[in-house]
Order: sequence, then C-alpha cells, then structure tokens
Amino acid sequence: MKNGIVIYSKTGNTRAVAERLAQAMYCQIFEIRAVSDDPNILIPELVTKPDVSTFDHLVFASPVHGFSVSKIMEAYLKQLKDLEGKTVDLFITHHFPFAWMGGNRALKQMKAIVEAKKGIVGKVTSVNWTSKKREQVIEELVKTYSI
Ligand SMILES: Cc1cc2nc3c(=O)[nH]c(=O)nc-3n(C[C@H](O)[C@H](O)[C@H](O)COP(=O)(O)O)c2cc1C
Repeated sequence: MKNGIVIYSKTGNTRAVAERLAQAMYCQIFEIRAVSDDPNILIPELVTKPDVSTFDHLVFASPVHGFSVSKIMEAYLKQLKDLEGKTVDLFITHHFPFAWMGGNRALKQMKAIVEAKKGIVGKVTSVNWTSKKREQVIEELVKTYSI
C-alpha cells in the first residue's frame, strides 16, 4: 500500500504533526503551496498541487482559518480529479479552545469534498494546539500509523 501525506501549513503546526506521522508511516509529505499565503484570499492560486493519483492511502491536513478549512487546502481538494478507491484520513490543527470553534466545521468541509471525489474517509482528527491534551492526541494518532 502506498501512503502519502498532503498538507498545507501556514505557521508550522500542521507540518509538525505531519512530520511525526510521516516518520511512523515511513512516507513522504507533500506541501501545497500558493502564490500568496494570505488566508483572506478566497480563491487562492496554487503553485504546488501534489499529484496523488498513485497513492492508495492519503492523509490530508490543514489549519483552521476563520472557522473553516484553510482556503488553500480547500482549493487543492476541489481541483483534485478523482479519489476513487483511496482511503483518506484527515486532520486539522486549530487554536481556539473548542472543536466547535472551527475544527469540526473544517473537518466536515474536507470530508464533503473528499467524498464528492469518491474517496473513502477514514480517521478524522482535530488537534487543538492550546490544549493540555495536545501531545496525547498527537501520540495516539502517531500510534495508529506506526508500522
Ligand atoms: C487567519 C487565521 C484564522 C484562524 N482561524 C481560526 C479559527 O477559526 N479557529 C481556530 O480554532 N483557530 C484558528 N486559527 C488558528 C490556526 O488554525 C492554528 O494556529 C493552526 O494550528 C495553525 O496551523 P499551521 O501552523 O499549520 O498554519 C486561525 C489562524 C489564522 C492565521
């Protein structure tokens, strides 16, 4: 099974979690990049759009921006052609104390786009950066991917 992790990270939190997962899964991280990192751009122009066509299992990860999935991850997911036959896990990192302050909504948005592309959504995880349980949540996630 070929695993891959595709992330957008503006300030490094999502990347830090992804790096730990990548170590556990012995797989590569592919970063989505846009012309501008300004989170207020509604339709960002992407310059790096990782090709996931050869992967069987993917992890997509993004920060929460303005109670939603980041516009850059949203634009990336929307331009994907097809995720048929692929299992897709999702995680987001967020800052506000409760998952209902954007985290849940962001995951729901990502799930809807992945399912519209016929991907099979598996694990869905919210990592609250300000929570005392942050490390525990990350460790548990890493454990589920440890080969
Ligand atoms: C423009 C902007 C908007 C944000 N909006 C939210 C939000 O609605 N809810 C939340 O919990 N965190 C919010 N955050 C915090 C980020 O989601 C959080 O710091 C995340 O871990 C950043 O991930 P990154 O370092 O990978 O970019 C926001 C951050 C930025 C820069």
